[in-house]
Amino acid sequence: MACILAPSILAADFKELGRQIRTTEENGAAYLHFDVMDGMFVPSISFGMPVLASIQGAGSQVMDVHLMVQEPIRYIEDFKKAGADLITVHLEACEDVKATLEKIRSCGLRVGLSICPETEGGAVRDYLKEVDMILVMSVHPGFGGQKFIPESLDKIRLIRRMADEQGLSLDIEVDGGIYLSNVREVLEAGANVIVAGSAVFGGDPGKNTKDFMEILREYE
Ligand code: DX5
Ligand code: ZN
Repeated sequence: MACILAPSILAADFKELGRQIRTTEENGAAYLHFDVMDGMFVPSISFGMPVLASIQGAGSQVMDVHLMVQEPIRYIEDFKKAGADLITVHLEACEDVKATLEKIRSCGLRVGLSICPETEGGAVRDYLKEVDMILVMSVHPGFGGQKFIPESLDKIRLIRRMADEQGLSLDIEVDGGIYLSNVREVLEAGANVIVAGSAVFGGDPGKNTKDFMEILREYE
């Protein structure tokens, strides 16, 4: 199974954004992780459609859009127009989870479903067949630079086991507090898509991406 790095631009230097994005692509990051926060589902506000649209020309990575937004079904078409390839919504933020996932699919996009640290892994069991990816939050969503919650590892193992039992080759993405020092544990638990914000954009993004990719390739 391919192991993918998804640098989160929440931690990027926006004066240098285009250049920083290109350097992550050149060094092997296949995805770009785009964190949208609405000040409702999470306390913070980040950025939205216009910023996504404006970075389309910067590279050709898969645009991995993580909507930390209440009732995200309202915005799926807008994010598609702005250039999303993969949209992940939060189970906890949707009144009708199935309808929201179907909406993403009907727009021709790849479908992701995320759970917060306090949500049991078993909560996604009934949706595994409807999605391409489960995103396990390993910090409380809302801010970059937090500490990895170790219980996330059991949740990753459980979700990988549930997917295997259903015969699904599901992507499992993990987001929050991942560094070169703990990424192996996350991969060993069964994740294959790694989000890293501070660990990529703090320091030299090209070198950091390269170092992550060396480890990720060992797990393919
Ligand atoms: C947190 C976001 C993350 C964040 C990760 O709510 O979903 O994607 O940018 O940042 P780090 O890697 O710094 O923990
Ligand atoms: Zn995220």
